[in-house]
Amino acid sequence: MDLIIKNGTIVTAKDTYAADVGIKDGKVVLIGKVLRHSDAEIVDASGKLILPGAIDSNTHLGMPLNNIQAADDCASGTCAAACGGTTTIFDYVIQQPGESMMETIRKRNDLFEKGSYIDYSFNVSLTNVTPEILKEFKEAVDFGVNQFKIFMIYSKEHLMTDDGTFVKAMILAKELGARMAVHAENPYIINMHTEEFLAEGKGHPWYHYQSRQEYVETEAVKRAVYWATSFNTPLYIPHLACKEGLDEISRARNEGYDILAETCPHYLYFTNEVYKYEGAQNYVCSPPIKGPESQDALWDGIKRGDISIVATDHSPFQSHEKAAGLEDYTKIPNGVMGIENMYPYMLSEANKGRLSFNKVVEVCSSNPAHLFGCAPQKGTIAIGSDADLVVYDPEKTFVVKPEKMHSNVDHTIWDGVEFSGYPIKTFSRGKLIYDNEKFVGEKGWGQFLKRNPLY
Ligand code: URP
Ligand code: ZN
Ligand code: ZN
Repeated sequence: MDLIIKNGTIVTAKDTYAADVGIKDGKVVLIGKVLRHSDAEIVDASGKLILPGAIDSNTHLGMPLNNIQAADDCASGTCAAACGGTTTIFDYVIQQPGESMMETIRKRNDLFEKGSYIDYSFNVSLTNVTPEILKEFKEAVDFGVNQFKIFMIYSKEHLMTDDGTFVKAMILAKELGARMAVHAENPYIINMHTEEFLAEGKGHPWYHYQSRQEYVETEAVKRAVYWATSFNTPLYIPHLACKEGLDEISRARNEGYDILAETCPHYLYFTNEVYKYEGAQNYVCSPPIKGPESQDALWDGIKRGDISIVATDHSPFQSHEKAAGLEDYTKIPNGVMGIENMYPYMLSEANKGRLSFNKVVEVCSSNPAHLFGCAPQKGTIAIGSDADLVVYDPEKTFVVKPEKMHSNVDHTIWDGVEFSGYPIKTFSRGKLIYDNEKFVGEKGWGQFLKRNPLY
């Protein structure tokens, strides 16, 4: 064996038990009470938890937006991820005009191959769903992509996919073993409000929320669920932020439909109050953060299993880029940060008793692996699984400060938030990449993770 993590408590989605973990060639090879091996390096995890690394299934590293780019590229983003206990990401590749989907995926893969510190995989955000793009679904699935996302918002010329094309894509994805995801907000209501607000000089970020209130998301979620249930196709709703949308998803799931929902830490921690205060622009994302009723419902949805995945939707922009839209919220690049904060935040809530550690592992690691075709390689601690492991100290207190984060972005919405418990070591395939607030990873260590077809 190369490494033994001794005396810790293993936590998976299903079990919690004291055992040592033996690692060889990047895999877990032994789990037992007292493991001895003369050559192995020993890590003492007395009083600590040993968790599978988190999988962040919604990131946008280096995402281009108009003339700017999200602040984190694959290097800084995956470095920050590792420092927060995330060992795998599913990053959204954005379909580029004039390129085939596979060209875009391959270019992105080249970048990640050289720059990523942790294992990575791709989803594809479709910005123009032409018949040619639909023809490429099969090649993308063979390559290892099993989620494609369309947008119900933005303009017809830019991003938005009509319902007919969306349904066609859902049926095709199902046939190929993939799942369609949808950005669910109603563009017509957003535009109606925005025209009125801007004409009245109401450009403050508060009106970003006002133009995309709960009903804007709810209607679109209901419509997407209606099409998925009418055509009996699987569906994924990423970054769910509203109660009534969740109610609709729960209803469909109770009837046996294969509808999955994901929410994000910023919807679980903040409420729409943030849009009223100084710095409001930094919280501008879509869907926007909703009111306390929605927040409570999202927590309940996690507990009863109707929200299967928590992921970050990490898409940060620098302070000056966010501030450029202070007088006109439509000019604020949408997206917030969280890639280093997801596991610490969720585990801190578990440490304080809000939910179990097993549940956190389920929504942040094992469900993304199971539901997106890479279990049991990822998402658990089991013999034969990748040794993507986090040693977690439940006694450590950590207060977030931008200078303590490893992202390229110059601020964080998590500034000042105190976590009870914190990851102290992260291993990627048996290699130590984060050690007590120090990043010790190696550029290019991350490997492409081919995800299997889902059905
Ligand atoms: O505001 C957000 N969520 N930006 C990222 C892109 C997306 O729609 O997921
Ligand atoms: Zn989206
Ligand atoms: Zn996203």
